[in-house]
Amino acid sequence: MIHRPRRLRRTEAIRALVREHHVRLDHLVQPIFVVERAEDAGPIASMPGIERHTIDGAVEECRTLAALGIRAVLLFGIPAHKDAQASSNVKEDGVVQRAIRAIKAAVPELAVMADLCNCEYTDHGHCGLLDERGEVDNDATVALLANVAVTYARAGADVVAPSDMMDGRVAAIRDALDDVGFEQVAIMAYSAKYGSAFYGPFREAAASAPRFGDRRSYQMDPPNVREALREIALDIEEGADIVMVKPGLPYLDVVRAARETFDLPIAVYNVSGEYAMLQAAFAAGWLERDRTIDEVLASFVRAGADIVITYFAKEVARRHAG
Ligand code: PBG
Repeated sequence: MIHRPRRLRRTEAIRALVREHHVRLDHLVQPIFVVERAEDAGPIASMPGIERHTIDGAVEECRTLAALGIRAVLLFGIPAHKDAQASSNVKEDGVVQRAIRAIKAAVPELAVMADLCNCEYTDHGHCGLLDERGEVDNDATVALLANVAVTYARAGADVVAPSDMMDGRVAAIRDALDDVGFEQVAIMAYSAKYGSAFYGPFREAAASAPRFGDRRSYQMDPPNVREALREIALDIEEGADIVMVKPGLPYLDVVRAARETFDLPIAVYNVSGEYAMLQAAFAAGWLERDRTIDEVLASFVRAGADIVITYFAKEVARRHAG
């Protein structure tokens, strides 16, 4: 007798019957870049199909996404003014705060997540405040992030998503939010965020490349996985509601390890460089577009992610909509 697994692959109906994982629009998050100055809006060369929006443009984009069935967005702000203190990040009428208000007013059913970091707001491009040695000062940065989180919550964010990789920030943000009555605002922590080369296109999009040095003193060293589990455990202890692994494709083993270790929802970030490399291959005619995107997104779900943050969300939703 020979075993014949091929029997269950014979027709699409049979394959569908035994398909183990599905990518649903419910679980996709579309990142959105919002600029304060109209002249900064427009396409991003290394991310074909993605734009930097004005606040009005972001509202329009959110209406379109919601109509297509996307239920969550992740906002990134690009302020008009940058300085060493990231002062534009903590203003009640900052670009992200205004964008959150406008989007929640126009598309209240959409879950609005706000990326919480300083690198788009500092003139030196680092994710935190610098001390007198020029190093990123952990505790001063954490205090600032907690204040910024409150302004995002006040604007109406459903979720704040700290992506800075400072130690102790989740607890400080949770305390700050709770202190002023925002205990319903969730924290999605970029817990295992690696110091990755795959963020290159994002830094063009957000004009956030560090002016000197790199982010390796706060973002994780790519070869480590036990350390990722420790980072995730700490964030859970500190009160994170959702934990994240980032980037996605080169770190599927980390997603799997996290899935097997923790019971919280796990998000994965299919980052700008992963998007750019596929777009480049599509443009060259080297990869088949729809099938490749579906296969990549399925890999995240198969690895154990509940939430997939991806620049492909809108395109996939449009395809589902027919
Ligand atoms: C901010 C932040 C970055 C990304 C998300 N939040 C850039 C970085 O850490 O340099 C990257 C997202 C992407 O590449 O798509 N700290």
